[in-house]
Amino acid sequence: MSDRYAVIGRPINHTKSPLIHGLFANATGQHLEYGAIEGSLEAFEAQVHQFRDGGGLGMNITAPFKLRAFELADQRSERARLARAANALRFENGCITAENFDGIGLLRDIEVNLGEPLRNRRVLMLGAGGAVRGALLPFLDAEPAELVVANRDMAKAMALRNELDHPRLRISRYEALEGQAFDIVINATSASLVGERPPLPGQVLGTAQLAYELAYGKGLTPFLRLAREQGVGRLADGVGMLVEQAAEAFAWWRGVRPDTRAVIDQLTIPLE
Ligand code: ATR
Repeated sequence: MSDRYAVIGRPINHTKSPLIHGLFANATGQHLEYGAIEGSLEAFEAQVHQFRDGGGLGMNITAPFKLRAFELADQRSERARLARAANALRFENGCITAENFDGIGLLRDIEVNLGEPLRNRRVLMLGAGGAVRGALLPFLDAEPAELVVANRDMAKAMALRNELDHPRLRISRYEALEGQAFDIVINATSASLVGERPPLPGQVLGTAQLAYELAYGKGLTPFLRLAREQGVGRLADGVGMLVEQAAEAFAWWRGVRPDTRAVIDQLTIPLE
């Protein structure tokens, strides 16, 4: 029997993870099975234990279970702890370890695939939910000139700051962004999922070289449209992040890091 992995989420029918991990396995000559499990709101923990007890070696976790996966683990990486969320679990010697590769996946996509290093750049991140929490540590490690996090709910954003006091991290209201300039702007809010856009004032995207939308496969979202109107040179969605976080998990489980370029190309849906 080959080694078993799976992604669990609710709903799970649109997941690309089995496809991505299947392509990685082929490309690296690793023998594994990777399935998809529709999670149960009542019995998520039991489902994870059942998969592990049946010989499973690891799982990816997607919405809405990332927090519950983090909580059920015996050990947690630092970035999972800061995110208070796990997107990957590893089962080893009776121990469940939680990791969060979303932030590092996003960083790698921006720096390596899109060729925009964060070092000494001014970076604006919109939102203060799980996606932003997961990205803070890897982003600050990349030494931007400043990382500004803007959110409507200031209490939520300030809570981030209280957990991670860093000289390059600044919390801002949307209105206070007026007149500021950024090189890289990332929409990590869930606004696009309901066809909305974060309340960015004035021409705040005007100087940016890259506008990045975390949502994948939603085409030109209201945020990306605004970025285009304000003349941002490069627009990207989250396909590269999706593939990069998968590659990190694959490397963590299998000890081999697959090449991501061909898989990103295969999954890319043109923005228009
Ligand atoms: P996730 O874990 O996916 O990041 P979340 O924890 O539900 O999701 O957080 C959603 C984020 O999107 C929040 O930062 C939310 O802002 P508030 O905390 O101010 O509510 C943000 N968000 C959702 N809809 C938005 C909109 N229309 N404009 C701006 N921000 C929005």
